[in-house]
Amino acid sequence: MADLKGRDFLKLLDFTSEEIGYLIDLAADLKAKKKAGIPHRIHEGKNIALIFEKTSTRTRCSFEVAASDLGMGSTYLAEGSQIGKKESIADTARVLAGMYDGIEYRGFGQAVVEELAKYSKVPVWNGLTNEFHPTQILADFLTIKEHFGYLKGINFVYMGDARYNMGNSLMVGCAKMGLNFTAAAPKKYFPDQALVDECLEIASQTGSVIRFCEDPFEAVKDANVIYTDVWVSMGEPIEVWQERIDDLAPYQVNKALMDAAAENVVFMHCLPAYHDHKTAVGKEMGEKFGREAMEVTDEVFESEKSIVFEEAENRMHTIKAVMAATL
Ligand code: CP
Ligand code: NVA
Repeated sequence: MADLKGRDFLKLLDFTSEEIGYLIDLAADLKAKKKAGIPHRIHEGKNIALIFEKTSTRTRCSFEVAASDLGMGSTYLAEGSQIGKKESIADTARVLAGMYDGIEYRGFGQAVVEELAKYSKVPVWNGLTNEFHPTQILADFLTIKEHFGYLKGINFVYMGDARYNMGNSLMVGCAKMGLNFTAAAPKKYFPDQALVDECLEIASQTGSVIRFCEDPFEAVKDANVIYTDVWVSMGEPIEVWQERIDDLAPYQVNKALMDAAAENVVFMHCLPAYHDHKTAVGKEMGEKFGREAMEVTDEVFESEKSIVFEEAENRMHTIKAVMAATL
């Protein structure tokens, strides 16, 4: 059993394969307890702060529900707090660490969450930065393990912008846990070479194969998991939409692509997804650019091969495991 007490959870690179495996298994155990109605208020009386400089549904709700299940109180800080405006990150870290037992941060640069952790004497958890989204990967891997029964050797294909938080974190996670990782995108969307080199080094220890492919159909040959994310992430300017659509349209996950993969392929997405016009932004962007869907078609999203809602639920169980283990 790994001892993670007092540790920050900022990026998967900071954790060994054993530690990541432990968090996934702990999440499965906590999930089973929750389903069986077995209380697990192991952090009764503690409190956590949740800083959100970007919007959220899954991550915020996961932290709040998980905190409550563990017996803890939580405070949501977004618009209206002094963070980063009237008060520096270093000062905020020291103030919050005096009142709370743990701090979640969602924002822009990874350097900010690292700075917060440097000045905080209580654990800091990364709830998404531009570079990494590590709690999402725990949920993704728990979902894959539940579905297939194992992680090592799974052929995992990521379609789209692979140099941002999801592509980066999934590549690191696959390297650490021995899944074979393929990123399918035009070259300019491949992850940063320094991170690729680091992952190749890790992969050489775990047996994972990491590759990059510009041909979407070649990429998904033998894929067990096809994963995608939005083409334009939170905080990116509206002006990038047209270029992203032009560049990434061939990598949209549609039925033809799913049919070209392994028989047992599943579709995954961190969500939220632009798969129809049922949201204000989806409608606006769809009409503006004359598209029914962006990164995934509604047909695939709603198909039996899609496990996106199991994946979303697992955000809560895995975030609970991170807090249970580090507090
Ligand atoms: N996947 C994810 O992080 O969702 P939210 O932005 O809703 O938290
Ligand atoms: N790449 C997306 C992930 C959302 C969970 C974003 O940063 O908006």
